[in-house]
Amino acid sequence: MAQEVRGVIAPGKDEAVRIETIVVPDPGPGEAVVRVQACGVCHTDLHYKQGGITDEFPFLLGHEAAGVVEQVGPDVTDVAPGDFVVLNWRAVCGRCRACRRGRPWYCFDTHNARQKMTLADGTELAPALGIGAFAEKTLVAAGQCTKVDPRVSPQVAGLLGCGVMAGIGAAVNTGGVTRGDTVAVIGCGGVGDAAIAGSHLAGAAKIIAVDIDDRKLETARGMGATHTVNSRSTDPVEAIRELTGGFGADVVIEAVGRPETYEQAFYARDLAGTVVLVGVPTPEMKLELPLLDVFGRGGALKSSWYGDCLPSRDFPMLIDLHLQGRLPLDKFVTETIALDEVEKAFERMHHGDVLRSVVVL
Ligand code: APR
Ligand code: ZN
Ligand code: ZN
Repeated sequence: MAQEVRGVIAPGKDEAVRIETIVVPDPGPGEAVVRVQACGVCHTDLHYKQGGITDEFPFLLGHEAAGVVEQVGPDVTDVAPGDFVVLNWRAVCGRCRACRRGRPWYCFDTHNARQKMTLADGTELAPALGIGAFAEKTLVAAGQCTKVDPRVSPQVAGLLGCGVMAGIGAAVNTGGVTRGDTVAVIGCGGVGDAAIAGSHLAGAAKIIAVDIDDRKLETARGMGATHTVNSRSTDPVEAIRELTGGFGADVVIEAVGRPETYEQAFYARDLAGTVVLVGVPTPEMKLELPLLDVFGRGGALKSSWYGDCLPSRDFPMLIDLHLQGRLPLDKFVTETIALDEVEKAFERMHHGDVLRSVVVL
């Protein structure tokens, strides 16, 4: 029987979010209902509310979540009621051309639940990134649930659902950061800091954090940055070269999503180095670079989708490393808040006051 729960919706463009009754259907084939325990507040939720992603209002917001599986559809075997899971927004299909070639982290046909959650009056909701987890319960595709060690706290585990996984994966999966590498990370919000923590975990010899806000650089040090550069007062390309024997870093991770910071990343890497773009640009942004430099500097210019993560491979491993004290995921949680404080959390995020506010249910 469908259930009624409380959830946070974005009713219309730029309107304040509010709590509504959400109708969650029973899971059908390939689906699961998850009792949400924690869900982080991400920029993407704010972009949905601002109408920056699609105009399919109303949205059920929230997508960085962990919780316990409550019910599964008839054919679901990978997860079962009682499993502690982290939700992901790229449930791989297993059949597309990427999956068939053994590269499921690139899956080109990821999926979500088929049925729709609705408001009490039947209005269909569009769940953020196919999740919608600022709610007591949510309906997802079973493939969006990844079992992890239940000893981790839900507010920490949920972080892997989006920004923190994107940052760690940008370094480790996309950038291939390994022992002895020099790494620079431009933009030290949640994503950039996670790239720093990931680089530290992978054994990078030098990790240079770049931001325009000294508070962010301070936090970056706590994540494993060995050097910091305030690019408001110092040319970051010069500074990164100076810190790397005059050459540039092996891997430069751009975690802002702007042409000017991308250009800094491009010139701050060593010859044959790698640039990873994990910051998300907006449609009007354009990049202009001398093609001869693109050729002459060699190496790789890559983008990182969700940290090129494979949830079934990466989530349990990263949670285990955290539980062993080797990955400080807890440092990303600036504050825990209640369901009715999401609007306030957006404001704090906008002012750069938090790495992550996490709704705890
Ligand atoms: N140079 C360096 N750092 C900058 C610049 C700049 N020109 N402009 C902004 N920053 C810094 C901010 O001070 C902040 O610390 O970039 C950081 C961005 O962090 P957040 O706003 O917290 O964003 P985050 O969640 O880390 O996401 C970063 O990745 O997933 C995408 O959409 C997301 O594009 C965004 C990016
Ligand atoms: Zn696929
Ligand atoms: Zn997100």
